Order: sequence, then C-alpha cells, then structure tokens
Amino acid sequence: MTTRIIATGAYAPGQVITNDDMAKVVDTSDEWITQRTGIKERHISSGENTSVLAVNTARQLLCRAGKKAEDIDLIIIASVTADYGTPSLGCMVQKEIGASNAVAFDITAACSGFMFALSIADKYIKTGIYNNAIVIGAETLSKIVDWSDRSTCVLFGDGAGGAYVEKSQTDGIIEEEIGSKGELYDILTEGHTECKNVFNDKKEEPDPLWYVNMNGREVFKFATKSVVKSVERVLKNAGVTADEIKFVVPHQANTRIVDVISNKLGIPHEKFYMNIDRYGNTSSASIPIALNELNEKGLIERGDKVILTGFGGGMTWGTMLVSW
Ligand code: COA
Repeated sequence: MTTRIIATGAYAPGQVITNDDMAKVVDTSDEWITQRTGIKERHISSGENTSVLAVNTARQLLCRAGKKAEDIDLIIIASVTADYGTPSLGCMVQKEIGASNAVAFDITAACSGFMFALSIADKYIKTGIYNNAIVIGAETLSKIVDWSDRSTCVLFGDGAGGAYVEKSQTDGIIEEEIGSKGELYDILTEGHTECKNVFNDKKEEPDPLWYVNMNGREVFKFATKSVVKSVERVLKNAGVTADEIKFVVPHQANTRIVDVISNKLGIPHEKFYMNIDRYGNTSSASIPIALNELNEKGLIERGDKVILTGFGGGMTWGTMLVSW
C-alpha cells in the first residue's frame, strides 16, 4: 500500500510586485535580482493572511479531488507565518471548509515544510490510521521580511499550494526521506520572540530577530550539498536511475542553486520545473505551487517518476520520489 497524490491546488494573492517595484523600496535593480536569483516578480498580500491562502487552496483541492469536506481524515499545514500561535492554520482551515471529521494540525520545517507534512501524512495513510489527507504549504512571508533589508526582502513572496492524497494500491510515493541539521540553525532564522515579562527588566524594544535573518552564502552551500545527497540516497534506495526521472520539482529559492544541483546530479536542467521568476521564494508553498503548475499544464502522466525536493531553515531537507 502507498499514498498517491490525487489532486493539486494553489492560491496566491492578486497583487504582483515586480523587481522594478522593489527598486522603489530598497537600493536594488531588476538586473541584480534576476542575475543572482532568477526572480522577476512575486505575489505580495495586500491584507489576506496565511489562513485565507490556505483555505482557498483547500477548497480547490476538495473540488478537484471530487471530495466532500466531511470525508477528509487529516489536514496538515506547513507554515512559518501562521495567523496565530494558536489556533493552528489546520484548525482554521477545518472550520472554514467544514471538515468536521478531520484531525488538523500544523508543522514547522520552513521551506522543507511541505515535504515534512507530506511525509507525516504518508505514514498515517500507510499504517492504515487514515485513508486520506489534505496537505498544504502556506505563507505570507511579506509580514516577516525586513522591507529595508535589500539582501532578503527581494527574495520572498506570498502564496499557498497543496495536495489531496489518499491510500493507493498502485502508483504513489515510492521512496522518501526528511532530515535536519540543527547545529546550523542560526544561518537562517525568523520570528524570534524574546522572553519579556513583568518580572524581568527586558526593555520594550523591537526585536531585530523577528525578521528573516540569513547568511546567504552558508545557506547556498547547505542547500546544494543536502539536496544532492538526499536525491542520490532516495534514488539509490528506490533502485531508480536519474535517467528514469521525468521531472524534478525543487524548492524555488534561487535558480543558481538549482543549476548546481542539476550539474551535480547529472539531471538535465530542462527536467527541473521552475517558476521562481513569477513567485520568488514562497517557503513551504514553493514546491506545491510548482507541482500544481506542472500538473495543470498536463506535463506529467500517470506512472511518470517525479522527484520533489527541498531544503530550508532548521536546517532541514526533504526528498520524495513519486510514481504519478
Ligand atoms: N540588490 C543589489 N545589491 C545587493 C542586493 C540587492 N537586493 N542584496 C545584496 N546586494 C549586494 C551586497 O550588499 C553585496 O555588495 P558588496 O559586494 O558591495 O558587499 C553584493 O550584492 C553581493 O552580495 P552577496 O550576499 O555576496 O551575494 P550572493 O551572490 O551571495 O547572493 C543571495 C545573495 C542571497 C541571492 C545568495 O547568497 C543566495 O541565494 N543564497 C541562498 C539563499 C536561500 O536560498 N535562502 C532561502 C533558504 S530556504
């Protein structure tokens, strides 16, 4: 028994911000952003919070999978930008779509979040506990970037993407792994909250660590190393060769990272599905948004072998080989 992706979906805020728009906010240029990252534009929320993006994605998934909300067993949302500390986005989605029989929760693994969430859903389904799940990555990163820091604010965008998965006897997830290297946690952080209370003398000052802080070069090195090794291990464990892969859907963080990964793995660049030019880095939403586009374009057929792979804060990584 395995777990199969039956439907994909995505939703992004309507407002599109180009690199030229960014150049009006910070000292940057379309040329710098395009050459260093491959990003041309990104969707930025004009008020919709993360739950709105997640709910719209969930509704699309139900519609495309032809399921009623009451039939859903499990809802897992990956995010680092939830509306609240509690309730979880999962519970907010459950209420809005009316999935009264589901159990719902969130997980946090930054840009690897969708891979972690899908891995968890897969275990619940493979062990027979649940028959199906809605798995979503959703982010409004625009609320946690420092809009005066040109080295980070140009990189990120808002959006959500997801998959409806269910028990399958044939095609589905063939092999997967998730991993973490906590000793590197401080090369990419966001959302730090200080322990301030009436019984200590911490001052009421803004916390600079609330915003995305990143050592870009170290993240770049980690990304290329961890993803290459992870994809190699997954292929080896599955007994599948790189030539058999129809598409790789990588985390959309930087086209140069993907160039390195493609060269090291010996998988041609054309097989890497990219849409970073239109979305920027949407963290946990990036892989499912790209997968949904690939699916909507009809570029994958039943039985095609597809790799989903990503890396992110933590530091974390995750790779999945699926038979579509
Ligand atoms: N516009 C113009 N110039 C900029 C700029 C911007 N938006 N951001 C930085 N610069 C400048 C820097 O100030 C620096 O100038 P200096 O040489 O005068 O000091 C110069 O560009 C080079 O900066 P550097 O940080 O060395 O660039 P880089 O080639 O390493 O690219 C990243 C920066 C962030 C694009 C790259 O390191 C990267 O993509 N890393 C991985 C990040 C990632 O994947 N994060 C998400 C993880 S999920």
